[in-house]
Amino acid sequence: MKPVRLAILGLGTVGGGALKLLQENAAEIRRRTDREIQITHVGTRRPRPDLNLADSVKQSADLMDIVRQPDVDVVVEVMGGIHPAYELIMEAMKHGKHVVTANKALLAEHGTALFKAADEYKVQIAYEAAVAGGIPIIKVIREGLAANRIDWLAGIINGTGNFILSEMREKGRTFDDVLKEAQELGYAEADPTFDVEGIDAAHKLTLLASIAFGIPLQFDKVFTEGISKITAQDVKYAEELGFRIKHLGIARRAETGIELRVHPTLIPAEELLANVNGVKNAVLVQSNAVGPTLYYGAGAGAGPTASAVVADIVDIVRDIIYTEDGAGTIPQLAFENLTDLPILSREEMTTGYYIRINADDQTGVLAEVTSILSRNGISIDAIMQQSRLKDLIPIVILTDPVKEAKMDEALKQIQALPVIHGEIVRIRLESLDN
Ligand code: HSE
Repeated sequence: MKPVRLAILGLGTVGGGALKLLQENAAEIRRRTDREIQITHVGTRRPRPDLNLADSVKQSADLMDIVRQPDVDVVVEVMGGIHPAYELIMEAMKHGKHVVTANKALLAEHGTALFKAADEYKVQIAYEAAVAGGIPIIKVIREGLAANRIDWLAGIINGTGNFILSEMREKGRTFDDVLKEAQELGYAEADPTFDVEGIDAAHKLTLLASIAFGIPLQFDKVFTEGISKITAQDVKYAEELGFRIKHLGIARRAETGIELRVHPTLIPAEELLANVNGVKNAVLVQSNAVGPTLYYGAGAGAGPTASAVVADIVDIVRDIIYTEDGAGTIPQLAFENLTDLPILSREEMTTGYYIRINADDQTGVLAEVTSILSRNGISIDAIMQQSRLKDLIPIVILTDPVKEAKMDEALKQIQALPVIHGEIVRIRLESLDN
């Protein structure tokens, strides 16, 4: 039987990890596929002698040439970035190659064109490694939960951001110090603002939402807020109220459309999700038949990401063996037909809130603030006055879920009170209980 032949584009953390895993677990993988997987080409500008590549593996920096080679069945794109990854994948598919990619940015922003081309050329794009590293969340949602109507999902889907928040909370370390360590460990994106400003999580959420709800990929409609403004003070107050702050990606089916949002979120400290620390990822999925299910594991790093890449290779090898054209039988975005449900604007979204205001120590301040909230139809869940800080009294208020537009209006009115000083802090809050 002919081997299935691979070209690996990129030998960084993920590419190097995939190569090593294919070598180390070759015997076990062979038992699963009963077909040899042979690496015929490696595309890299920086050769890696440490990877002990067989002499038969052709190494070249001309990636466009590699994706056109006849002795390649599957192209593994693990170089990252939008260009030239997009052009290389298109060219590979045009030449009948299947594609495995870990490139969440590329798929979130250009997936519509890429998946359409894959259908036309009758090849597949497998992308398990693009979301939550080693957690097989794509397969879970697309296949394992296929009988359900998914109501919402909430995930810690950026390891770097979670590592930063965990270290700040547990060890009181500074933001910059922890970010530097995440970069040294190879977790952070080439541009770390992608991690801390939620762009990486928004890329992943775009993919998750599409396969959960059967909607087109719409990265540009994800509301995204980063963690760089989270202070130790708010982490502490949240803790005192029984909450932890996590950077969540949330996709929710609301009455009038779909909410797609990435933002720091207070969640109850006893929730499993609140106890996911360090570089670990976790995704909580609420579905109508099975109820809540939670998936946890390593979301970044060479081994975990390679685990997902190689599992995709195994799937494609099986499809090549057992289906006529190798294109597989599972719709790439989980649904045969996508429905263009409306994506809600930030103002239309509904969440609970943590509000912190700094007020003069004067009679009647609380009454004024609470009456503004009440006039705007906002129900208070908890209120806590903190010890005086620099002549001002920090007041923390937790609210029940409310439309963001209403909260915008209430905060505008509170901010205008002469007794309120500095910018009001608002962090969204989710109880995760339905
Ligand atoms: N920068 C990403 C993270 C890598 O920290 O989660 C995995 O996608």
